[in-house]
Amino acid sequence: MVEVKNLSKTFGSDTEVLKDINLHIHKNEVVAILGPSGTGKSTLLRCLNYLCVPTKGTIRIGDTTVDANHYTRKEVRDLRRHSAMVFQNYNLFKNMTAKENVMEAMVTVQKRPKAEAEARALELLDKVGMLDRKDFYPSKMSGGQQQRVGIARAMAVEPDVLLFDEPTSALDPELVGEVLNTIKRLAEEEKTMILVTHEIRFARNVATRVLFMDEGRIAADGTPEEIIDHPENPRLQQFLNFIAK
Ligand SMILES: Nc1ncnc2c1ncn2[C@@H]1O[C@H](COP(=O)(O)OP(=O)(O)O)[C@@H](O)[C@H]1O
Ligand SMILES: [Mg+2]
Repeated sequence: MVEVKNLSKTFGSDTEVLKDINLHIHKNEVVAILGPSGTGKSTLLRCLNYLCVPTKGTIRIGDTTVDANHYTRKEVRDLRRHSAMVFQNYNLFKNMTAKENVMEAMVTVQKRPKAEAEARALELLDKVGMLDRKDFYPSKMSGGQQQRVGIARAMAVEPDVLLFDEPTSALDPELVGEVLNTIKRLAEEEKTMILVTHEIRFARNVATRVLFMDEGRIAADGTPEEIIDHPENPRLQQFLNFIAK
């Protein structure tokens, strides 16, 4: 489903943030990415949909391949059709209701008829437990509610892969659970997901595979049991000990 080959990203002339990443993710995998801050997790996710243009390497999602050395705008557009991102800070449109936020891409990008987009938006809001707030503006929703709308909005375009960048780290602790539960339900529907998170317990229970990123590389890659219960990499052990405190 997702194939990353020799991906590198350098900011400016010397900050190499991603160092020759190779990664193959299959359909229906739920991949959690762990790692200290500043190790390139967000940059990797953003490269997957060219929100960030890699310095080198190729990204393939579904049947679209984009090579950083020579790519067209059309290829990038095609690549973006395959995925949707859920951001840390929700990034909802402030001047639109929950329903309008979920409808937006269906109407403007996918050119679906308004009535159809609305019906689908209501279905998705129901799925994330936000149907009763469909006419609320973001300013009248809690962070957890906004993020659940953010997830419904990401699903609206029926992406092959859902990308989550620390979807709960901006939330008050008591609101984290409702968002994690929403994501867990999606995982149970066999969606392909890549999720940067510091929620180790969630990664342990919901992910089918865990990656540990360290200094721009994938330093460990395995099942949740291997990576979280029986870490072998010393830096990973140190990271898990640190997070647990
Ligand atoms: N647009 C940018 N310009 C310059 N440096 C950046 C930019 N985005 C990220 N970086 C740098 O790349 C490194 C990795 O960042 P990031 O991918 O956000 O890490 P993580 O998500 O793992 O915390 C950091 O040192 C960060 O300062
Ligand atoms: Mg980040």
